[in-house]
Amino acid sequence: MSVYRCYSAKKTEYDVECAALTRQLREQLGTAGLEGVTVFNRYDVDGLDRAVYEQAKGIVFSEPQVDAVYDEEFPQKSGPCTLLAVEALPGQFDQRADSAAQCIQLMAGVERPLVAYAKVYVLQGELTPAELDKIKAYLINPVESREASMDKPETLARTHSVPDRVDAVDGFVSMDRAALSGLLEQMGLAMDLDDLTFLQAYFRDQEKRDPTVTEVRVVDTYWSDHCRHTTFSTHLDEIQIDDPAVQKAYERYLAARVEVYGEEKAAQRPQTLMDIATIGTKVLKKRGLLPELDERTMHFHHDKHFNTYVDNLNKLLKDRPEYHGWSLERLMRDWPELPEDIRQGVRNNAGGVYNHDLYFKTLHPAPASAPGPVLQGAIDRDFGDLQGLKAALRSAALGQFGSGWAWLVSDREGRLSVRKTPNQDSTLPLTPLLGCDVWEHAYYLPYQNRRDEYFEAWWRLVDWPGVTRRYGELTAAGTQYPAP
Ligand SMILES: [Fe+2]
Repeated sequence: MSVYRCYSAKKTEYDVECAALTRQLREQLGTAGLEGVTVFNRYDVDGLDRAVYEQAKGIVFSEPQVDAVYDEEFPQKSGPCTLLAVEALPGQFDQRADSAAQCIQLMAGVERPLVAYAKVYVLQGELTPAELDKIKAYLINPVESREASMDKPETLARTHSVPDRVDAVDGFVSMDRAALSGLLEQMGLAMDLDDLTFLQAYFRDQEKRDPTVTEVRVVDTYWSDHCRHTTFSTHLDEIQIDDPAVQKAYERYLAARVEVYGEEKAAQRPQTLMDIATIGTKVLKKRGLLPELDERTMHFHHDKHFNTYVDNLNKLLKDRPEYHGWSLERLMRDWPELPEDIRQGVRNNAGGVYNHDLYFKTLHPAPASAPGPVLQGAIDRDFGDLQGLKAALRSAALGQFGSGWAWLVSDREGRLSVRKTPNQDSTLPLTPLLGCDVWEHAYYLPYQNRRDEYFEAWWRLVDWPGVTRRYGELTAAGTQYPAP
């Protein structure tokens, strides 16, 4: 068996990351020579049969709806470009590689293979050495990653040499304070002298030996991380400030707490550094100055993604006049009857058009906060109350694995329920009244992987009068969609 290599990348229409990254690099680093960036995920896998590897390409290494996957080589761009591969430092936990290895093991019931992962950036344009250095410094965090070779290794098995001797901190348990202080300096430790004295007591009284250098460094690392967390959430009970400017800032913080939490809760809620650090954003949110879904996200979503579905559907049906009389709903319902060469394409793209049309129609920048009486009555009947509906929708939105939608739907009799669908699949014949798009393109720019925060933002923008109207029309018509 040998090492297989594949690359996966978002298909152009789903690639919001590359456009955003190009802009970031150009604007923040001033790299004018950079014309574009394409990002590939590179997986090397060792210890697999060819057949299992082939299967893994479309299941583990890529999502076929949104990703393109390439064996061994990826398509070269025309014009000058520089390749930059970035991988985790040896010994650093690599979430992607580990997840991929586990998924393959589960998928095929085989021994867990060795998987190595690297992110490959294709930087297009004539870059000067200085520009390239700037980009590398921006993309590579030396604490956890390094530049990787573009050569494929013969094997992914790592051999580690066993050291003859493990260095100890000689004489540690009997050092006096001056010597410990010198050690702090010499090793550049984050802990202070009292902490080191505490560690000394432990090794002297419990272990009864000197620690190794590694042990001291491990304790130091954990100590500083723990310290960082506890410092941020330490309750500040007594605060004394000498500097009038700092005092003034502190008073503004206190006023902001009252504005955000209300008088009563502000008095009970502990004051912490974390709270001080985050109160500014909370005030802006409270005042309605932070948009729930920013302009750039909505622009990409509406003008690029939605538009692509419309264009694709038109292209697929352009030379098929026999289907021009079919409604969008009929295309979504009766797609299995279409000729094989356009069947899947029509299914995906008709769904994309219908679903997005509904998505944008049911959002409002300053929506009314409650449904109208008829819809509210149905919600109370079927979910207990509006919060019950929200909980059900939230659970569907967060529980949808991969790309898809969470829906509020109604049947012919006006009974409501919540559904989730993968990809651009439809809920018909249950009519969707409201849909939360949980494809990453709907929220990645402002929220990254925080789908729950996106859901909350989306929920606050739901245009209830519009949804109420839709429900009213549906129940008045007593039918789901035009008959074919
Ligand atoms: Fe979408």
